[in-house]
Amino acid sequence: MASFQERYGPWALITGASSGIGAEFADQLAERGINLVLVARRRDRLETLGGELERRNKIQVRIAMADLSKPDFMTPIRPITESLDIGLLVNNAGFGLAGNFLQHDLRRELDLLNVNCRAPLILTHEFGRQMTKRKRGGIIFVSSVSGYIATPLEASYAASKVYELFLAESLWYELKKEGVDVLALCPGSTITEFHDVAGSRAVAAMAVKPVVDLALKKLGKKPSAIPGRHNRLLVSLVKLTPRRLNTVLAGRVMKNLVLEGEKDRQAT
Ligand SMILES: NC(=O)c1ccc[n+]([C@@H]2O[C@H](COP(=O)([O-])OP(=O)(O)OC[C@H]3O[C@@H](n4cnc5c(N)ncnc54)[C@H](OP(=O)(O)O)[C@@H]3O)[C@@H](O)[C@H]2O)c1
Repeated sequence: MASFQERYGPWALITGASSGIGAEFADQLAERGINLVLVARRRDRLETLGGELERRNKIQVRIAMADLSKPDFMTPIRPITESLDIGLLVNNAGFGLAGNFLQHDLRRELDLLNVNCRAPLILTHEFGRQMTKRKRGGIIFVSSVSGYIATPLEASYAASKVYELFLAESLWYELKKEGVDVLALCPGSTITEFHDVAGSRAVAAMAVKPVVDLALKKLGKKPSAIPGRHNRLLVSLVKLTPRRLNTVLAGRVMKNLVLEGEKDRQAT
């Protein structure tokens, strides 16, 4: 059986590598001897992580500081990647916006659409073409269990995660015959900076390690993966329950989480 490096090549590109799930992907791929292109806005964090991973794993790391909400976000990424054989793309960067949709600044909503949907589309088109030419590669989309449930008070976030889930599952089928594995990773609540950024509170949150362990285990074996038994049970129940009821229940849960998130922020 081909090693991970033989299967996916010498370089991986990870978006949102400055924190949470993306930083854990960087750690676990570095341990497998894969060289990394780390993408995010916070250069200091990327440089610190990249330096540590290079020292610990004898790999090469390149930093691409890019704001994926911007129309021209590929401009800083292209010169860094053009001579590299990127065999694994991890579309991980993303954020949520909790609260009433109409009270959000429209520009933030459009940023969310750009970061969570437009950027993965463009990156997948660019690097997916290169992978199919080499007849090998892998693409991971970090979607969410929210991709299975319409979620009032996190409306556009859930919609963006359905987009990633469906794009990934469809491409899983399309690209299989081209030698490219595609996976939608659908975590539930996970301990990262996500909830602080979104303005909600985490419940039954998992650590990042088992989330990324599962993704790297299931890539090439399944179109999608849900970390955590409680999250898999939730998605199974959602599939059996009328959609309208799921939406009402999700709205009630989110109302509490947004209120608790507000209390947390006031307390700090
Ligand atoms: N944590 C959860 O409960 C959970 C559950 C399900 C799915 N997810 C998904 O997991 C993924 C990773 O999130 P996380 O939980 O690890 O949250 P996190 O700790 O807040 O990390 C988010 C990452 O995305 C990057 N990012 C955000 N906006 C960006 C922009 N405009 N341009 C470039 N990079 C940007 C951030 O980097 P900079 O700020 O440095 O740019 C950061 O590295 C997201 O797609 C999220 O939707 C998370």
